[in-house]
Amino acid sequence: MLKENKMTSINETAAWLKEKLPQQPKFAVILGTGLSDMAEAFPELCKIPYTDIPGFVSSTAPSHKGFLVLAEVHKQPVLFLQGRFHYYEGYAMQQVIFPTRVLAALGVKALIVTNAAGSLRQELPPGAIVQLTDHINFMGTNPLIGHNDEDLGERFPSMNQPYDPDYRLLCDEIAATQGITTHKGVYLAVTGPSLETKAECAAFASWGADLVGMSTVPEVITARHAGMKVLAYSIVTNYSNLFHEQAHSQEEIRHHAGISGYQLKNILAEFILQASHKFH
Ligand code: HPA
Repeated sequence: MLKENKMTSINETAAWLKEKLPQQPKFAVILGTGLSDMAEAFPELCKIPYTDIPGFVSSTAPSHKGFLVLAEVHKQPVLFLQGRFHYYEGYAMQQVIFPTRVLAALGVKALIVTNAAGSLRQELPPGAIVQLTDHINFMGTNPLIGHNDEDLGERFPSMNQPYDPDYRLLCDEIAATQGITTHKGVYLAVTGPSLETKAECAAFASWGADLVGMSTVPEVITARHAGMKVLAYSIVTNYSNLFHEQAHSQEEIRHHAGISGYQLKNILAEFILQASHKFH
């Protein structure tokens, strides 16, 4: 019975969206804190508030807009999710990952995930654009816990190379051509909303994490479960508490997301153009 309800609602939402969207996208981009404006850089085909979409909850996080935007990127229809649902907002994991499942049901093949993150490394200062090479799930839960619907994906999906090596390489070439410096890093996800203590940051860094944040990992696990290919970037918005005594502000976080977000937009637009010829 639970299975039936869950399936119905993902498929119902996908069917509802298919009616509304003038074109079917192969690419989707989840826009993190301070990065929502990226969608507005491209000609808009359609814009739907989350509050209208069946099954979507409303985003309460700061600078998360809560719109689904279909825009044209180099003639490719691309779905942008302006804002995401975080576990710390009090939503169940099933609600956090619902949009990702709907993207899979819509036929999206490539999911690009962006976020704002804290840095655990001196060499990754605020403003750094970091391509994720891997992640550590430290949220204490997993979005795939519970009954596994084989129609959605397998019971034990591999997390070997969750971030597509071909996509990553293509983006490295594009960034070099555009003269944009990018970095690589391992992202560790916490639930938040309290920020990390110095001791936690030191522990995470010793495990091999370079970045810490409160999102992305649930969506990436779900996307890989559904067979979507994933590319992900963090914008470093602050040094974690490992490096300084002062608490960082939400303004500081938004400021850095804005500047580097513009460069990241240029990399991703070119990636979509080239990947649509090369891989899809
Ligand atoms: N920690 C956790 N999440 C974050 C941070 C941080 O320092 N900065 C932006 N998101």
